[in-house]
Amino acid sequence: MQELVTVILAAGAGTRMKSSMAKVAHQICGQPLLSYVVDAAKQTGSESLILVLGHQADQVREITPDGAQCVLQEKQLGTGHAVMQAQELLKKKNGTVLILCGDTPVITGETLKAAYDHHLSQNNHVTVLTADMENPFGYGRILRDPNGNVKAIIEQKDASPDQRLIREINSGMYFFDIESLLSALSKLQNNNSQGEYYLTDTVGILISQGLKAGAYKVSDAHEIMGVNDRTQLDEAERIVSRRIIKKHMLNGVTFHLPETCLIHKDVEIGRDTIIQPGCILEGKTVIGESCEIGPNTRITDSQINDQVVVMNSVITESTVGQNTKIGPFAYLRPGSKIGQNVKLGDFVEIKNSLIGDNTKVPHLSYVGDADIGKGVNIGCASVTCNYDGKKKHRTVVGDNAFVGSNVNLVAPVEVKANAYIAAGSTITDEVPEFSLAIERNKQTIITDWVKKKGLDKK
Ligand code: UD1
Ligand code: CA
Repeated sequence: MQELVTVILAAGAGTRMKSSMAKVAHQICGQPLLSYVVDAAKQTGSESLILVLGHQADQVREITPDGAQCVLQEKQLGTGHAVMQAQELLKKKNGTVLILCGDTPVITGETLKAAYDHHLSQNNHVTVLTADMENPFGYGRILRDPNGNVKAIIEQKDASPDQRLIREINSGMYFFDIESLLSALSKLQNNNSQGEYYLTDTVGILISQGLKAGAYKVSDAHEIMGVNDRTQLDEAERIVSRRIIKKHMLNGVTFHLPETCLIHKDVEIGRDTIIQPGCILEGKTVIGESCEIGPNTRITDSQINDQVVVMNSVITESTVGQNTKIGPFAYLRPGSKIGQNVKLGDFVEIKNSLIGDNTKVPHLSYVGDADIGKGVNIGCASVTCNYDGKKKHRTVVGDNAFVGSNVNLVAPVEVKANAYIAAGSTITDEVPEFSLAIERNKQTIITDWVKKKGLDKK
């Protein structure tokens, strides 16, 4: 059976990242670099994946997709040597192998697919993805014969001054006929300026055997960029981020100043939603239709329903019902389930709580580990005292209850439906339905106290 196998090279040290983390584990738009390369390979129709690991192999294994096979390159003796580590696995396969590097996250499945089609239709034994570069310094150069056919690839360090003028470079991505690659690998030598086994030399070897080499030039050279340092990490993230945001825009989402936003790859956003400047939407977040999000809002792994407004707030692992208004300056911590038509105002923190439909928590409150019913009013600066120093306890507030300002609800405690709590009360016992709980000292007036003390300002 003919199949497409992908080998991803990720054994290199990534020295220029100056990081204790493996290079391909560094993230852009919320995903490791490696995952973008894996996705592009899958979109090309590659069924099986082989990863060549070396430096920080354990870290890379952690982000390796299920079903991928890993091989270890103990010493990094060059890109050809890296592919040799996959030989035993490749011998069991028949068809084409796509070779990629783990640090080129900008490459798209579409481009790889077009290159693969080209490779097959030309009956090439190898097809190199190439690009014309303004500044080709550092890359391998594509050598062509007078008829324009690919002849070989020469590395920067081994190139003559004339060859260095060539602007067409090797992307480091290739499609090989598996059998031809295996035979060329067995002939690789390391007699070059770096003493490495260059994968690039296989191209010349195949041609000398009378086999066919071709090139597929990508139209946008950005796609083949590699990430070697943190400035390139930023460059790649800008490209990927712009792509993600453009996709949302074309689906009917408005972004104001999108360059100030970071939208992770798997985030979904409904049409007619407006994203204001300074928003970060992360993880598996889903935003409904006709919402207004931002400015300066961070939403992580949360579901936001239609027509929700969130201003200057942080929402993590929570759900928000339709038509609810949040912020400015609200903080929804994990496990918050907010109903419809709710208002959560400024400096309100909610944690692991249910907030029923039409309930208002307008200002300066903490609601933690609570079940708040429908149509409830939680007055300004009210607090659920959910922690006794050892354990967390729940607070229950029934439908249509009215909690006045500056109330402490000392959990575990229950306020039944339709009850009222007077401002300033500290509630430690159940409040029955339709009753008023008031817990505070009667006010005392000492007439002319200020004058008697001589404190009056005449
Ligand atoms: C390589 C190509 C060069 C091309 C460039 C594109 C060779 C000899 N040269 O050069 O023509 O223009 O990529 O970016 O192939 N790796 C291993 N094991 C090794 C060596 C490298 O796994 O022993 C991996 C690295 O982790 C990296 C990739 O292979 O992902 C490329 O290695 P790198 O050293 O960056 O190759 P270049 O010298 O840049
Ligand atoms: Ca490189």
